[in-house]
Amino acid sequence: MTIKKSSKSSLFNCFKNQEPVHEPKPEKRTTEPSMSRNSVKRISHMDISSSDDLSKSLPGSNLYVFTFAELKVITQSFASCNFLGEGGFGPVHKGFIDDKLRPGLKAQPVAVKCLNLEGSQGHTEWLTEVVFLAQLRHPHLVKLIGYCYEDEHRLLVYEYMPRGSLESRLFQRYSIPLPWSTRMKIALGAAKGLTFLHEAENPVIYRDFKTSNILLDADYNAKLSDFGLAKDGPDGDDTHVSTRVMGTYGYTAPEYLRTGRLTIASDVYSFGVVLVELLTARKAMDESRPNREKSLAEWARPLLKSARKLSRILDPRLEGQYSETGAQKAAKLAYQCLSHRPKERPTMSVIVDTLEPLTRDFDETPFVYTAPTTLESPKKEAHKVVEKDNNDHHHHHQQHDRRLGRTKSGVVHCETDLDKNLSARTDSPE
Ligand SMILES: Nc1ncnc2c1ncn2[C@@H]1O[C@H](COP(=O)(O)OP(=O)(O)OP(=O)(O)O)[C@@H](O)[C@H]1O
Ligand SMILES: [Mg+2]
Repeated sequence: MTIKKSSKSSLFNCFKNQEPVHEPKPEKRTTEPSMSRNSVKRISHMDISSSDDLSKSLPGSNLYVFTFAELKVITQSFASCNFLGEGGFGPVHKGFIDDKLRPGLKAQPVAVKCLNLEGSQGHTEWLTEVVFLAQLRHPHLVKLIGYCYEDEHRLLVYEYMPRGSLESRLFQRYSIPLPWSTRMKIALGAAKGLTFLHEAENPVIYRDFKTSNILLDADYNAKLSDFGLAKDGPDGDDTHVSTRVMGTYGYTAPEYLRTGRLTIASDVYSFGVVLVELLTARKAMDESRPNREKSLAEWARPLLKSARKLSRILDPRLEGQYSETGAQKAAKLAYQCLSHRPKERPTMSVIVDTLEPLTRDFDETPFVYTAPTTLESPKKEAHKVVEKDNNDHHHHHQQHDRRLGRTKSGVVHCETDLDKNLSARTDSPE
């Protein structure tokens, strides 16, 4: 099987005549891509070998190219008071941009992610992210505003997502629990993001769907972030791409882990895991639990079928404030997503259609957010999976990357000094 490669010259020619990528109008149909459905193949990170190449090959993307000095200024020298969190890629800081930085730039808070050169991810993941996000725009994908590619510096500048990641919302000990309808809204938003990727003319397999990669805006609209592991879907009649196994323990589809065969259905499995996390507020992988409960998907799947068993595993912090039929439908959907037979999993658009009514069928009291009283961060248990060449099945080699334990995502929700200085100009996060 082949990994799709694009021809550099034909791509460059195609893009010369291409219309700029615009933000889509308010969503009508969730799967509507913002890029016109022309026959243009997307640029691949393999087409780019220098910073010059990058800016020339993404002419319609409207991405800003920032200098490292500029990003230092907007984050107050990456001050700790602006620190939002850190994953496998490197630290993320809050900053603020406006038209003083570049004419025409909308005044807004941003999140600046800086590649840690000693980390587990590198230039390729950084470039993959820029190249995918430059060419894919959708209300349920986080917006990349620009980047910095200068000497050894590799940074990404995103729209700022005031409510941080779903992971911190769901598992932070001192925040009030997410209400049922908000959970369904988040699941639906994330499903729309994945549907867009899967139904694009050149489908994209996201490969790292998990709660920490689902970011939330002020209204709990979910947006997918982190395209570093994203992959072009299979070409032509191929049903899968063969590739080394990457992702996060607890979320990765069993057949992909076993064979290195990556399909769109692998994302659907990961979606099922996140749906169960939303239902139970248990983590996908929790080393502190007894052996048979460590992997949420394996433990929960048989329990999702029975209404009686389901009621026992639903997040107790919902305190009965959910629709019973809605919960059963969501659980049935998760059960199907977690099937060990990829072909039996529903497509993302079927998932969107199933979830849509579940966001409406329960009336609850308005959600009032109470700021956490402590900055204690949730302990991250997720382990990155990085397996070498699947062609070399007999030499599987796994690295359990525990670097995620250093994440301080709890800090996302405190008011940073920058907020205080700029509160007149920005929307206060919470
Ligand atoms: N656009 C953004 N707006 C607000 N906070 C953000 C934004 N992007 C990232 N963050 C925060 O920064 C932290 C680190 O994010 P990052 O995506 O680098 O790592 P992660 O998802 O936690 O782990 P992994 O490396 O496995 O993806 C997270 O807590 C996230 O909430
Ligand atoms: Mg992430």
